[in-house]
Amino acid sequence: MQASIGGRPVVSPVLTASGCSSFGQELDPFFDLASIGAVVTKSVQLRPRSGRATPRMAETPSGMINSIGLQGPGIEGLLADELPWLAARGAQAFVSIAGSRTEDFAELAERLRGAPGVLGLEVNISCPNVESRGEVFACNPDASAEVLAAVRAAADPAHPVYAKLTPDVTDIVSVARACADAGANGLSMINTLLGLVIDTDTMRPVLGGVTGGLSGPAVRPVALRCVWQVHQALPNVPILGMGGIRTGLDALQFVLAGAGAVSVGTAVFNDPSAPARIHAELAEALGERGFGRLADAIGYAHRAPEESSGRHGR
Ligand SMILES: Cc1cc2nc3c(=O)[nH]c(=O)nc-3n(C[C@H](O)[C@H](O)[C@H](O)COP(=O)(O)O)c2cc1C
Repeated sequence: MQASIGGRPVVSPVLTASGCSSFGQELDPFFDLASIGAVVTKSVQLRPRSGRATPRMAETPSGMINSIGLQGPGIEGLLADELPWLAARGAQAFVSIAGSRTEDFAELAERLRGAPGVLGLEVNISCPNVESRGEVFACNPDASAEVLAAVRAAADPAHPVYAKLTPDVTDIVSVARACADAGANGLSMINTLLGLVIDTDTMRPVLGGVTGGLSGPAVRPVALRCVWQVHQALPNVPILGMGGIRTGLDALQFVLAGAGAVSVGTAVFNDPSAPARIHAELAEALGERGFGRLADAIGYAHRAPEESSGRHGR
């Protein structure tokens, strides 16, 4: 399946989702990391971080809620250990970066210039697990645009830059458009939805961080709606779609809504081979529906039935 991320060719339209498999090591025993489009890294910051208070995960109906926060080794650790490890396996890294100021994002992008095995950058402006909701850049089109413009200016010109958006906004299209206008080469959708679970025995919030990010199949219709709306408004902007993808048919829904590639997150906790399995299932599903190329299926659901000749509209 030929696919691309921001114009750069990748061997598969299936990637991992940031934060659900650190830097790929956990998945390495289960499939060849070089066989998927890229490992999207856990969001990395300038300095190592320990994340939020425990407990940090809870199961919910059809999904989970987490308040990990941006735990990680920082950019030094990423450059010294994680990226060389991925490159040695022939795997591509789509590096997720996060910060609390525009300058942090720009510095991270600068530090990643020329790093080996880096496919591009995913700019996490939408993490719900920050102490102050005021830090969620992706809730505001102007703040999002400022970060994306700074990253695009600082990043290696060969690295596509994707903005990762939150569904927790009234109008996601306005944020998407601001990011694209500021120079983002693509959009990743969606980050987790802000949620809350209360333990009825202790009668207190389950998570140490009180609120957390909801993910998994429960969020899939929301994610699909976001991909649909943004593709409708900005059909030429590449989309990396994610949110509750567990099977090839789930991935196909995102492609038909307008995504050119997909990320698999929560599903790997239950099935660590899910990215490779979903690649095979998606290829089969496209073939069964008569699509010779992935590109012919991207955004197909937007076409009026009369525009389609036969089953596949080509
Ligand atoms: C445990 C966990 C940690 C996550 N950490 C990050 C992160 O560091 N950066 C980020 O952009 N998204 C993070 N996410 C969000 C996922 O990348 C993804 O956008 C979201 O979970 C929806 O996809 P899914 O339903 O397939 O998991 C995290 C999600 C989970 C479940």
